Order: sequence, then C-alpha cells, then structure tokens
Amino acid sequence: MAQLIDGKKISQEIKDELRETVAELKAQGKEGALAVIQVGADPASSVYVRNKKKACEYIGIRSESYELPEQTSEEELLALIRKLNNDPKINGILCQLPVPAHMDEDKIIRAIAPEKDVDGFHAQNVGALVIGQKGFVSCTPAGIIQLLKRSGVEIAGKNCVIIGRSNIVGKPMALLMLRENATVTVCHSRTKNLPDVCRQADILIVAIGRPKMITADYVKEGAVVIDVGIHRQEDGKLCGDVDFAQVEPVAGAITPVPGGVGPMTIAMLMHNCVEAMQE
Ligand code: GUN
Repeated sequence: MAQLIDGKKISQEIKDELRETVAELKAQGKEGALAVIQVGADPASSVYVRNKKKACEYIGIRSESYELPEQTSEEELLALIRKLNNDPKINGILCQLPVPAHMDEDKIIRAIAPEKDVDGFHAQNVGALVIGQKGFVSCTPAGIIQLLKRSGVEIAGKNCVIIGRSNIVGKPMALLMLRENATVTVCHSRTKNLPDVCRQADILIVAIGRPKMITADYVKEGAVVIDVGIHRQEDGKLCGDVDFAQVEPVAGAITPVPGGVGPMTIAMLMHNCVEAMQE
C-alpha cells in the first residue's frame, strides 16, 4: 500500500498559515488585493476563477473580478492590465488562461508588471528562477515541492523524472527540483524508451495531459508518483495522467486525483499573493 499524499489536507494547512500571516500584515496596516481577469465564459475557467476568489476571501485578502466578454479586443485587455499595473491598491494580477484565440497570450503575460505577476508566468520571473534569484514561481510546480516536503519525501540526491515540458509545469518543475538538489530528467513526446527512463525515477512527476497513460510498467517499486493531470471520464468521474489502480500497489507514495496536486495550485497562488503584499 502506497502512502497517499493528501493535497487537500496540505493545501488547507498552507491556507491556514497564510491566513495568520495576512492577519499580522493587516495589523501593520498592509492590505492585499488580487485582480482576477477572465475573458469569455469557459466553464472550467469559471470554476478555477471562483475557487481563486474563495481562497482570497478565506485567507483575508480582497479580490477584484473583471469578467470581460469573449469579443473583448486585445487592446482593451491590455489597457485594463496597464490600469491595474498602475493601481497602488492592487498587488497581484492574474489573467485566467486560455485567453480567446484572437489574443496573443504571450503579449498578455508580458504586459503584467513582474512584481504583480502572482502566476509567475512573466519572463522576468521565469528568468529569476533559472538563475536562482527572487521572483514569483509558477504555482503548480511550487505546490508539488510543498507536497513532497510536507509529506516527508527527501529530494536531495534523488533521481527525478518529469514527463512534460510546458512553460507552466514541466520546465519550472525541473528548475525547482534542481534547486532542491535532485538529479533531473525531463521527458516529452520525442523521448525514446519512455517506460525505461521513467523506471529510473525515485520521484516521477507526470504532466502529459493524457488520461491514465502511466501504467505500472513505468514505475519503479517504491517510487514517489506525482500526478498533475486531471480529466473528466465518460462516467463523470475524474482521473489523472496516471492509472491509479495499477500504479498505487507499486508506488511508495502517490497523489490521488482529485485531491492531490489540484488544490495545491490555489494554495500557492495565495502564497504568492501574500508575498506580493510584503513588497
Ligand atoms: N489556466 C490553467 N492554469 C492556470 C493558472 O495556473 N493560472 C492562470 N492564470 N491560468 C491558468
């Protein structure tokens, strides 16, 4: 039986710690406010945005909602971001992705002032992570580090294999694991002999976006398995990129879906918002 890594419990611990920090900062006269922008009404994005606003309320910071119609022009969105960049009452800005196809996502990310970029997507924050300087770190990989540390998983010296090389998860994940002194391998769609490479992992982090792709033959006995995927199955139930029923008996520890990595992303967004308050 693998140890179950409980993201729901750990994310709650983090939010409770942040709530206390916010109360202390408020006593010093510091206020927090996050601007949350959503363009269009994608149902999944609406759920994420609602949960982010709820988390703000829980830890005691204000959130301002900007729900823009799908037809909003790129220039209108950029103008809103410029206004929020210059608003001293706002210390974090988040634009929920994806934006509609007529907008250039990179341009939107670049427009957010790096010191308010609580998603950690701006090139300046990504660059800071690469060279080990201070900056906002992308929330999902930062949350995975917290899951590992708070579950007592040792990272230094371990073989870590990451599947997926996205700007939001795979690449920052590799940099964070390197910062923690793991030996890091990043795999992707062109990797040869993927199961063989994965079986070298003491810690296997899966962010491929394909339901239940990782079966028992990818996993070394006793390995720690972190599943970033989330998919709705035909029967309405959620599953990850890892075939949990197959992998759980082989793994030493594993995250469930739901209740693993998912809740950590919002907890770490709140962490970044509290950091932004302290600037
Ligand atoms: N869309 C999917 N994940 C994220 C995220 O972490 N931040 C933003 N802004 N949009 C997303």
